[in-house]
Amino acid sequence: MPKIVVAGSANMDLVGLAERLPQPGETVLGDDFMMTPGGKGANQAIAAARAGGECTFLGAIGSDAFGVTIKARLNASGVDTAHVRTSYGSSGVAVIMVDRAGENTIMVSPGANTTFAGLSAAEETVIADGDVLICQQEIPVETVIAANRAAREGGTRTILNAAPARHLPPELLAVIDLLVVNESEATAITGSAEPDMAALLELVPRVVLTMSGAGSRYADREGADERIPAFRVEAVDTTAAGDAFTGALAVAWGEGRPLIEAIRWASAAGAACVRKVGASNSLPSRADIDVLYARGTGS
Ligand code: RIB
Repeated sequence: MPKIVVAGSANMDLVGLAERLPQPGETVLGDDFMMTPGGKGANQAIAAARAGGECTFLGAIGSDAFGVTIKARLNASGVDTAHVRTSYGSSGVAVIMVDRAGENTIMVSPGANTTFAGLSAAEETVIADGDVLICQQEIPVETVIAANRAAREGGTRTILNAAPARHLPPELLAVIDLLVVNESEATAITGSAEPDMAALLELVPRVVLTMSGAGSRYADREGADERIPAFRVEAVDTTAAGDAFTGALAVAWGEGRPLIEAIRWASAAGAACVRKVGASNSLPSRADIDVLYARGTGS
């Protein structure tokens, strides 16, 4: 089992479903409401554990009831939470609205995630002992840099899922092995109107560009440039699809599969995730991923 370490955020997601999303200043009547643990970091840790990795989560929860529930969900999913910090105050909270087409808008109030500042020697050791480190951008950037440096020093491969889009300092880019971005994150990073793989490869050695229903694209500095088709499923909620993808990708890469094959398998994980409403509760098991992967994309 590959050892996956995730240094990132944990949130409680407050999810409202409605026929359509409200415009600014508008109120719409919704349907169901649900509360489920989420946060890109915690989701990716759970995704990696369900996909077959031995996963440790590094992050911070608050001293409130949300924190208790978030940690319980991580534990129940088989994620090692021994190093999760609890800080006095609110846990991170995400307010999510989902429409009938499965599209969403997300606003994150970071709460305790902002207290995950710097790394202890024990946290650095966990990272250095891992096979693959995954980070996102919902925690302080200094911590993301420190985690990726610890990984580089320990020989642990690094994946940065640059979500949400934020400035990427050169000292962070210097220690990233694989960048995972969607189209809006890609354009935000390079300042281009369209995703520009060549510009991204000037920053990092390998890039996966995810394009929802259009699949994904992989390119690297060795000259690879491949398109990977999407798996066709009925989308109910796209929340955490990128997290399912990234967690599964880390596991498959950590298992030693070639990256293109790892991306194909991770695409099945992302597609399996959108068939259910919610974040951490919709992340697929290894068996779910294998079944969809075996079915194929039909293209
Ligand atoms: O990627 C989905 C996640 O983004 C949600 O779970 C929410 O908490 C935000 O972090």
